[in-house]
Amino acid sequence: MSKVSKAHLREMKKIILTVITVGLAGMMFSFALAYFELLPKTRSEQYVVFCQSGTCHPKDLPYQDHALSFDERTDDLLSRMTTTEKIGQLALVEKNSIHNPEDIARYGLGALLSGAGAKPESNTAEGWFQMVKDFQEQATKTRLSIPLFYGVDAIHGHTNVPGATVFPHAIGLGASKDADLVRDIAYATAKEAAATGVNWVYSPNVDIAQDMRWGRVYETFGSDPSNVSTLGKASVEGIQSFDNEGLKVAATAKHYLGNGATEWGSSTNKDFKIDQGNVTLSDIALRQTQLTPFRAAIEANAQSIMVGLNQWNGEKVIFNKYLLTDVLRNELGFKGFVVSDWYGVYENETDNYQALVKAINAGVDMVMLPFDYKTFSNDMQRALKNGDISKERLDEATRRILKAKFETGLFDGVLLEQASDIGTIEHRALAQKAVSESLVSLKNNKVVPISKKTPKIFVAGSAANNIGMQSGAWTVEWQGIDGNWIPGTTILKGIQDKVSSSTKVEYSLVADFAETSGLADIGIAVIGERPYAEGWGDIESPTLSSEDLMTIAKLKRVSKKVVVVIVSGRPLNIKDFVKDWDAVIAAWLPGSEGQGVADVLFGDKPFVGVLPIIWDL
Ligand code: GLC
Repeated sequence: MSKVSKAHLREMKKIILTVITVGLAGMMFSFALAYFELLPKTRSEQYVVFCQSGTCHPKDLPYQDHALSFDERTDDLLSRMTTTEKIGQLALVEKNSIHNPEDIARYGLGALLSGAGAKPESNTAEGWFQMVKDFQEQATKTRLSIPLFYGVDAIHGHTNVPGATVFPHAIGLGASKDADLVRDIAYATAKEAAATGVNWVYSPNVDIAQDMRWGRVYETFGSDPSNVSTLGKASVEGIQSFDNEGLKVAATAKHYLGNGATEWGSSTNKDFKIDQGNVTLSDIALRQTQLTPFRAAIEANAQSIMVGLNQWNGEKVIFNKYLLTDVLRNELGFKGFVVSDWYGVYENETDNYQALVKAINAGVDMVMLPFDYKTFSNDMQRALKNGDISKERLDEATRRILKAKFETGLFDGVLLEQASDIGTIEHRALAQKAVSESLVSLKNNKVVPISKKTPKIFVAGSAANNIGMQSGAWTVEWQGIDGNWIPGTTILKGIQDKVSSSTKVEYSLVADFAETSGLADIGIAVIGERPYAEGWGDIESPTLSSEDLMTIAKLKRVSKKVVVVIVSGRPLNIKDFVKDWDAVIAAWLPGSEGQGVADVLFGDKPFVGVLPIIWDL
């Protein structure tokens, strides 16, 4: 090679090295700019940086502009989100599974829940507010400051919190058939929930109860599709009409679809019999019964619908695209978001990744994750990378969730602690009214109403002096509580407060009255079911316990007339005994305001309740 060519070569090498050096420097500079966000953002650029320091609060962006429509704001926000941020919006994480609050920002989580009984350190309104506020502050540390949905089961009041008003469970409201009452109760429940920072409730349950052996009958408005639809719609309206300085509460119609029509012995949960079981109704039968209340809830613009843990013809509804997309979206026009129930996506599955892909592609928008959100996030990233879940499907689900957040005021409202809104006199009066309207006379030999001047009344029974029993489950604890340690009025106290000063009321839990007490003019036995939730209440033949039957028999021996008040979540088989009783009243699960029972027993209120479900007597 000639010198010239050698020199030329040396020159060439210098030029190439210079180009490479400049290029590398340029790339480093660009990354640096990108990292410090100095580069002008193109809408589609994928940033994965979450602002841990909280210094990235976005300001004055279109999605924060109240003047724009919710659709425009949703579109703008969606266009700015990374894949990771979108995936985070699809996660509904049980708060006890979060061991590092920073994960909320790290995974861009969009929603948290307190499963029944998942309370803050201090289970007070203030404690709840602080817990939710702390979680929300973590969410504002994210790059786009997307607020969290925080959801609870408030199915008969925000009863997670001691001191909240405990309204009658839905079966009693079903007996009232009073849509205005149900709407007012739903509004009051939303108000008490919002007072603690909660902005999403998993209510109303619009299942249609078909089998009295099911442990969730009392959570429903009964077995008449029309009554369930009317009351379910009123409940959604009541919840979503509450507006606290722009901050609202989202309702959830549940459990789509057919959860109330499962068959005995078909449960996929080894501990249960019928709950989480299989439905074999035909398509047309399903549409004419179980689907009806969801139409009504959609008419009321329910923000969310929860998919049940049941199967239809052997397939999980959670995986059923026909029901979740073709019917719910294309036929019924549901615009909100679909959330899966508890561990339903993964329960009894051998391949969690495939289960997740199936659920999302069937139409589940948000996945309830009681235990593990990290695997969910990784699996979603994997599914998007390899196309098992399309980007369009991810955007569709994210859009639905964001729109619901905008409509619920999460971006615009102000988180206000209002502990004084919990358990107010007004709400308790409303609950007392509901108790009176829920009572159903099953038998009455002209004994009720009882005179307030009756000389001597004996009161006995397991549910006479027990607010825990009269409230039922989903009260502070998932399976309910026992005793009188939350505020309220027992049925016994309601009776004692109602009668004249000349009336002598004696109480004995098991009807052990002294011989010297002589005979009572009226014996009132208040008995019934101990609290149970979900499949733990599945039972082959619902009836009264032998202890309760013994109490009634003993009371009858020392009373001229006996009135039996049944506190239960469902009809009980009392056919063999009812002939011995002078009056029988279904009180369902009245909640904290037991004085509503005395209002009817002593004639201040008439019987207006009618059976929301068949009760064979
Ligand atoms: C439960 C229930 C559902 C409830 C959810 C969250 O498994 O089926 O009704 O809303 O979990 O607690």
